[in-house]
Amino acid sequence: MPAASALDLDTIRQDFPILDQTVDGKPLVYLDSAASSQKPRQVIEAISRYYLRDHANVHRGVHELARRATEAYENSRERVARWVNAADAHEIVWTRGTSEALNLVAFSIGQARVRKGDEIVISEMEHHSNLVPWQLLAARTGARLRYVGLTDDGHIDLDHLEGLLGSRTKVVSFPHVSNALGTINPVTDIGTLIRDRSNAVYILDGAQAAPHLPVDVQAIGCDFYAFSGHKMCGPTGMGVLWGRKELLDEMPPYQGGGEMIERVSRQSSTWAEVPHKFEAGTPNIAGAVGMAAAVDYLDSVGLDAIHEHEMALTRTAMRLLANVDGLRILGPASAEERAGVIPFVIDGTSAQDVATILDAQGIAVRAGHHCAQLVVDRYGLSATTRASFYLYNSNEEVHRLAEGIGTARELLLS
Ligand code: ALA
Repeated sequence: MPAASALDLDTIRQDFPILDQTVDGKPLVYLDSAASSQKPRQVIEAISRYYLRDHANVHRGVHELARRATEAYENSRERVARWVNAADAHEIVWTRGTSEALNLVAFSIGQARVRKGDEIVISEMEHHSNLVPWQLLAARTGARLRYVGLTDDGHIDLDHLEGLLGSRTKVVSFPHVSNALGTINPVTDIGTLIRDRSNAVYILDGAQAAPHLPVDVQAIGCDFYAFSGHKMCGPTGMGVLWGRKELLDEMPPYQGGGEMIERVSRQSSTWAEVPHKFEAGTPNIAGAVGMAAAVDYLDSVGLDAIHEHEMALTRTAMRLLANVDGLRILGPASAEERAGVIPFVIDGTSAQDVATILDAQGIAVRAGHHCAQLVVDRYGLSATTRASFYLYNSNEEVHRLAEGIGTARELLLS
């Protein structure tokens, strides 16, 4: 079977030893990278090297190991800043993941800018991480949370968005790529529309985009961009909030503790400079080291090549699954408009049962609402089965998926 694209899959697969195993005697086919990606040796070794040779606390000690750890931690911030084309490394705030990044921005920009009667605009496409923090903010402030609807083919309804924007809109927050539909949103055009119609702060949940597409935060024209390490070959418990410096400066801290202060007195304190103002406590130093190693790894393959590869796999999957009776894929009809995420349902079967039968064939997928209940509600469902691809998946694995789905259908409907 030919490779799906020009990317050097044999070499890449050698970098991911975890993929080389059997499940119930069948070769593992890992198609759950939208939930969490696997890690290449290079990332595992960078973290391990850091712990074996360089670990100490950061920004606190004058000794050699403290210097090395601080340097590694801050160099990683610079590496990630360059990767997303941030204007300044101080615009990169380390967080525990996308969820914490979005909670941080919702809390702090909310406190700085959102008042009773203001409007927060999100969409029906949100992961709960970009929904619940805004509900909490709306409940705290008396602001109104408004939802942009979706089209039948899984796009944000831009006419609806245009109608919602106005002088009351203080925040607009959308996903760059939908985890439950796969849609790649036209985030640059959306940014232009938001600026034309409002003074809102524009936030993007990049959890499903940064691992798969080249991201340039300045070219997009957003104000904040959040993503996670564990979905991009990096460690769990590590994420990034990029924000425009002037907005980060304006925002109050999210958490209090060591490292985030300038001066503490009995009744009040003053804050450290951005980004340290938002990094209370001993940070995930090894996580930062792992993030830089993940970025190096993805860059060595090339984000354009990764995207092309995933698009080719998606095209194959959509072609093969079109032949399965009663199977419906959610989201855009064209592979060009989606990332390597294939959510589907088969008439008369449960999404969970399909995933269980696939697991028995060694094929790992996710079933459920994917932390995006409004999405499945919108399409009249309670769950989908979701296959998601990454740089290490092969065309052969997509064929295994299609065969597995055929088997699941037969078993469940006979
Ligand atoms: N957000 C992750 C997913 O979509 C966990 O599966």
